[in-house]
Amino acid sequence: MDMKILGIESSCDETAAAVYVDGAIKSNIIASQAIHEQFGGVVPELASRAHHKTIWKTVDQALNEAEVSVEDLDAIAVAQGPGLMGSLLVGLSFAKGLALSYYKPLIGVNHIDAHLYANFIESPEVYPFVGLIVSGGHTRLVYVDKPFSHNILGETRDDAAGEAFDKIGKLLGLPYPAGPVMDKRAKNGNPEFHSFPRSMIKKGLDFSFSGLKTSVLYYVQDQTDEFIQEHLDDICASVSAAITDVLTTKLKRAVKQNPVKHIMLAGGVSANSMLRAKVGKMADEMGLNLMMPALQYCTDNGAMIAVTGAIKANLNQFDDLSLKPFARVS
Ligand code: KG4
Ligand code: ZN
Repeated sequence: MDMKILGIESSCDETAAAVYVDGAIKSNIIASQAIHEQFGGVVPELASRAHHKTIWKTVDQALNEAEVSVEDLDAIAVAQGPGLMGSLLVGLSFAKGLALSYYKPLIGVNHIDAHLYANFIESPEVYPFVGLIVSGGHTRLVYVDKPFSHNILGETRDDAAGEAFDKIGKLLGLPYPAGPVMDKRAKNGNPEFHSFPRSMIKKGLDFSFSGLKTSVLYYVQDQTDEFIQEHLDDICASVSAAITDVLTTKLKRAVKQNPVKHIMLAGGVSANSMLRAKVGKMADEMGLNLMMPALQYCTDNGAMIAVTGAIKANLNQFDDLSLKPFARVS
C-alpha cells in the first residue's frame, strides 16, 4: 500500500491524529482530555470544546513528526462514527476543511472497523477472522471474511465491557477511566478472592455486564470502607476475572461455531493484561493465530483511522464533502 494518509480521530474524548506512509505508521499523536476525570465520565459538551481547542495542534504535530506536508498526502481519513455527535463534528469539519483547501480526497472511517483494522498496523491483512471488539462503547463478536464485510455474531445487551470496568471502578472509588487502573491493581490481587457472577456464560454469543455491576454494588454496600480499601487489589482482580472469563469463553465458542485460523482482539479493553493472557492461552491451545494491537493502538488513536483509510483507499472507497457523521450504528 504505497500511499500517504492522515488519520483523524475525535469520536469521544481523545483528539488524535496519525500519519501512515507506505505501509507503516510514522506518527501517532494523542491528546487525552483530562477535564472529564473530575466528572467521573465524559461530558459531551466539554469534549467537543476540547477537540476544537486541540485539533489543529494535534494534526500539525502528527504531520511534523512524520515529516509529511498536507500537499504530500494522498487522502485524509477521518472517524465518521459511531461516537458523540459534537465530538465527531469537530474532526469531520476539520478534515473537510483540509480536503477542500488542498484538493485532497476524503475517507470516512467507521470507528469500530478502525479498532479491528488496528491489528493490520503491525500484522499483514488476513481473512477470514473472528474478532472480539471490546471498548468503552461496544462489545461485539464479528466474523469477517473480507474487508468491511462484518457478520455480527454477538453483542452486549446492556453495558459494554469497558463501561463495566469504568462503572464498577467508580463504585470502588477509582478515577475515570477505571479500566487501566483496575488492570494495574488486579496484577497484585487474587482473582479468586470473591466469585462475582459470569452472566450469560453458559450459552450463546451475546453479553451482559449490568448484573455484574449490580452484584459489585451490593458487595460494596455490605462491606466497610476499610475492608474495601484493604482488599482493593483482590476485588479488582476478582472483577477482572469475571469480565475476562466471559469474554474468553464467548470468543472460544464463536470460533468453534465459525472455524477460522485467525482471531483478533480490538478496542480499549484489548489492552487488559488478564484478557490478553487468557486469550493468548486459548489461542495456543486451539492452534490459532492471535492478533492483538500494540498497547498504543488499543485505545482510541489516529493510527487505526489512518490504516483503515489506507485499506479503503486501496479498494477505491473515497468520500466527498457531503460525508455526514453518525452517532450510532444503524
Ligand atoms: O476504545 P476506547 O479507547 O474507546 C471507545 O471506543 O470506547 O476504549 C476505552 C475503554 C474504557 O472503558 C477504558 O476503561 C477501557 O477501554 N480500557 C481498559 C484498559 N485500557 C482501557 N479496560 C481494562 N483494562 C485496560 N488495560
Ligand atoms: Zn474506540
